[in-house]
Amino acid sequence: MERTFLMVKPDGVQRNLVGEIVSRFEKKGFKLVGAKLMSVDRALAENHYAEHKERPFFGDLVEFITSSPVFAMVWEGEGVIATARKMMGSTNPADAAPGTIRGDYGVQMSQNIIHGSDSPESAKREINLFFSQDEALTYEKAVERWV
Ligand code: PPS
Repeated sequence: MERTFLMVKPDGVQRNLVGEIVSRFEKKGFKLVGAKLMSVDRALAENHYAEHKERPFFGDLVEFITSSPVFAMVWEGEGVIATARKMMGSTNPADAAPGTIRGDYGVQMSQNIIHGSDSPESAKREINLFFSQDEALTYEKAVERWV
């Protein structure tokens, strides 16, 4: 079954949006298989965002993600990578549709509340970067047959 890495960024944690965000993915029908509140150090931040190293906002992005705890998660379900991105909304909250997480709660690009993997390759890479093997669980949920 497909898995993705989602992370409530420091602004989302500070604004008490963790519960709301977890609830949206739970209600959608996806399965939470790993989660933790954690600090991101500079090495992890630079590794996670390595593909954006040359972009002008890279320094600010690393500064932001290391500034306060994040809530890192692994979610499982059919098509979860693409569907989670739709539920998050456009990267720039100003362009994000109402009903999406960024559309409902975000204002500016540099504080857009949530990160989500954009492909199977990045999901695998990001899950392995943030979670050890025994932190992402495999378990049955009775409700799955109704989703
Ligand atoms: S995307 O969705 O990956 O194509 O978006 P992209 O525009 O390439 O942005 C990559 C990540 O950088 C963040 N970002 C910024 N942070 C701070 N300041 C500015 N100006 C800025 N522009 C983009 C953006 O939120 C993406 O972060 P993640 O965590 O991947 O969503």
